[in-house]
Amino acid sequence: MATTPSTRRSAQRRAQQDRGGRRGWSDRFRRGEPVPGTRRHRRNDQRRGTEQSGRDTPAIAHPARTSHGSARPRKERRYVTGTLLELRDVFVRFPGTTTNVLEDINLGIEQGEFVTVVGPSGSGKTTLLRAIHGLLPAASGIVTVAGNEVRRPTRDRGFVFQADCLLPWRSVQDNIGYPLELQGVRRSGARRQAAPLLAMTGLADAAEKYPAQLSGGMRQRVNLARALVSDPEILLMDEPFAALDAQTREVLQAELLSIWQQKRKTVIFVTHQLDEAVYLADKVVVLSANPGRVRAIVPVTLTRPRSLDVKHTVEFTEIVDSIWQLIRDDVLLHKRVQDT
Ligand SMILES: Nc1ncnc2c1ncn2[C@@H]1O[C@H](COP(=O)(O)OP(=O)(O)OP(=O)(O)O)[C@@H](O)[C@H]1O
Ligand SMILES: [Mg+2]
Repeated sequence: MATTPSTRRSAQRRAQQDRGGRRGWSDRFRRGEPVPGTRRHRRNDQRRGTEQSGRDTPAIAHPARTSHGSARPRKERRYVTGTLLELRDVFVRFPGTTTNVLEDINLGIEQGEFVTVVGPSGSGKTTLLRAIHGLLPAASGIVTVAGNEVRRPTRDRGFVFQADCLLPWRSVQDNIGYPLELQGVRRSGARRQAAPLLAMTGLADAAEKYPAQLSGGMRQRVNLARALVSDPEILLMDEPFAALDAQTREVLQAELLSIWQQKRKTVIFVTHQLDEAVYLADKVVVLSANPGRVRAIVPVTLTRPRSLDVKHTVEFTEIVDSIWQLIRDDVLLHKRVQDT
């Protein structure tokens, strides 16, 4: 058959496409070969231990729990190096209201960082955690985790409340495993996964006990273990030790640091206690009141691991004092308003 320049050009174009263009992909698809950019191709890449081309962000390996009775495997997570959680120009108000509770919040939190949040009562600390968790949408601005916008609560973020909210008819081990059972894991599998956390939180001997048989400190340990059992990347903790006596509180602070150092979670921890905030944190976010704004971010440069003795050093007291200076006026003003 005679060929014209134009039919030759289309034949060349088709041949080129077959070698690497879109037509090549559909041919590969028809032949049952993996097509670049598809899940199957990525899976093969992972098996070969190679990174998907065109992506320059490092993959963070997470043990996929696929064995019998375990949680569903997670999607692979990819993080932009450095900042894991970001709040950009975030304003938050409650539905049906017109006043902002939080205004102009800009915050970047690194993966594995321990961040504490302090501020006067009503400054929006709990609201900040709820916005990060996805329970309360930002009126404007954006909250992202690993570059993805937060729209609702997901397993990537665990919440530890001040009230322990344990189920009284479930034993300690079954309270810890409860979130996994909600995800469809069988009780035996949930218990298996709860076991290391029982040991880590010092509850191994209390596995069979019921909440009514526990001290306040033990209940909070269960609370923490239950938040950790789903293996969240970010732990949001809202005054978890507020109801405890001073000694138990100190013990739990030290234990929390030890767990954090083993698990390397990213933690955002709200507290009223400035010494607790400084002892735990890599940095302390100080909120001002009405509406809540970031007044300051105070870096804590105390070396780690930290023993409780660090609280008696001059460096420690100086940091606590500097934070108190930042919030003192707001706190005293709040108290005067309450007194009148
Ligand atoms: N469901 C709600 N509807 C409307 N306003 C609310 C709601 N919950 C809280 N607020 C208001 O939002 C502001 C911030 O509340 P938030 O509980 O976040 O403060 P906080 O800093 O955690 O206080 P505290 O230290 O006392 O726990 C407060 O003025 C509060 O009255
Ligand atoms: Mg609160």
